[in-house]
Amino acid sequence: MEAVDGIESPASGPAGRDDKGFLRLLRGGYRLAQTSRASDTLQEVLNDAVAFFGARRGGIFLLDDATNQLAVRCYATRAGGTAAPRPPSKTLAAVAFKGRQSLLFRDRNEAAQHAADSAVRGEVNSAICAVLRAPDRELGVLHLDRGPDAAPFTEADLNLADSVAAAVALGLDRHQLVERHEALFVQTVTALAQAVEMRDEYTGNHTQRVTAYSLLLAEEMGLPEGERRRLRVATLLHDIGKIAIDDQILRKPGRLSDAEFEQMRTHVVRGAEIVQMIPGLKWALPVVRGHHERYDGKGYPDKLAGVGIELTARIVAVADAFDAMTSDRPYRTGMPAARAFEELQKCSGTHFDPECVAAFFRARPKIEALLEKDAAERRSAEGGCHTLSRQELERERAAAREALAQTGPPRASPIAQGPTGTRVHSIPVPGSA
Ligand SMILES: [Fe+2]
Repeated sequence: MEAVDGIESPASGPAGRDDKGFLRLLRGGYRLAQTSRASDTLQEVLNDAVAFFGARRGGIFLLDDATNQLAVRCYATRAGGTAAPRPPSKTLAAVAFKGRQSLLFRDRNEAAQHAADSAVRGEVNSAICAVLRAPDRELGVLHLDRGPDAAPFTEADLNLADSVAAAVALGLDRHQLVERHEALFVQTVTALAQAVEMRDEYTGNHTQRVTAYSLLLAEEMGLPEGERRRLRVATLLHDIGKIAIDDQILRKPGRLSDAEFEQMRTHVVRGAEIVQMIPGLKWALPVVRGHHERYDGKGYPDKLAGVGIELTARIVAVADAFDAMTSDRPYRTGMPAARAFEELQKCSGTHFDPECVAAFFRARPKIEALLEKDAAERRSAEGGCHTLSRQELERERAAAREALAQTGPPRASPIAQGPTGTRVHSIPVPGSA
């Protein structure tokens, strides 16, 4: 069994090697670093590696952070080969990974020493397990094997495979880094949006629902994945400007007066001011500033019209309105989804972009399923407790205020908090003990 430590320079290449194929394999790492669909690229790289090395079968094993075990991410068999279309066992890969060394198993006996099933059965004669090594950690293993009908792998093959593994590992490492960075960014933005939302107890999960509807709509309209990822962040931020709205207005249980409504409308400009402070988030501005524009030009703040409003803002406008219509407010119950769809249809071409409304209708089954799931989760969260609906809560509060005005302060808080944060009935009868 031969071992290769660290990253070796690729051999000049045995006679007959496909140099272009080798270069393509090395560039696989670059492609992995650039792509947002790493699994497809990883499969392409493995297919190329199986062909280039004349392997019977190949597999890429990556460390699963959750289980701390190697798990197969993709596998391939040579076109026209006899190997069964199933992944190789991870036995040999695990030996290389554990020892942090790329290994060459020159014959069946060397492989069988490690109780590799396929070697014991005689299906595998020789194998290479090249460790996918990032600068600060091992990511996994590239496994290639040949059957008894082919010449065994050589040291030169091991060196070449190790070079390919180094390029693949660098690409994967960068891809994973970008993914982690992006996940952290979305989590931070989500936390920020929720912090704003927590000020307004009536909105519930408004931002999350609007984001989910917007993404379904964007998918239906065929927006590319990159634009959908940006839309997700922009939608999470769409009402961020409400942080600048007075509590008295933001948390007012009843309808807003004209003057209060004017103040509330400033949230789009305030939101844009906040987002403008982060140059890397400029692409979120059209949604934050423009999600209350109307297709007919009668919206705010800029009275933009038609395609003068960015598509992402037109999408969020539909999703936002749908959630506003189907959600409960202290002064009214949310309307059924069917009625909200009717309203969208009525306002198609005036308030909303007709193409967005049409796409929203096409996505209707998914949207209604999401709405039902959200309702079921709320029911389940309230299960077992006698909780107050928002309407009940407001009626009880009004009654308590009225009673207060007549008899002075109560002896207990009008609304008590349940042990799990759910609201429970605790309306004292003013004047009673
Ligand atoms: Fe808004």
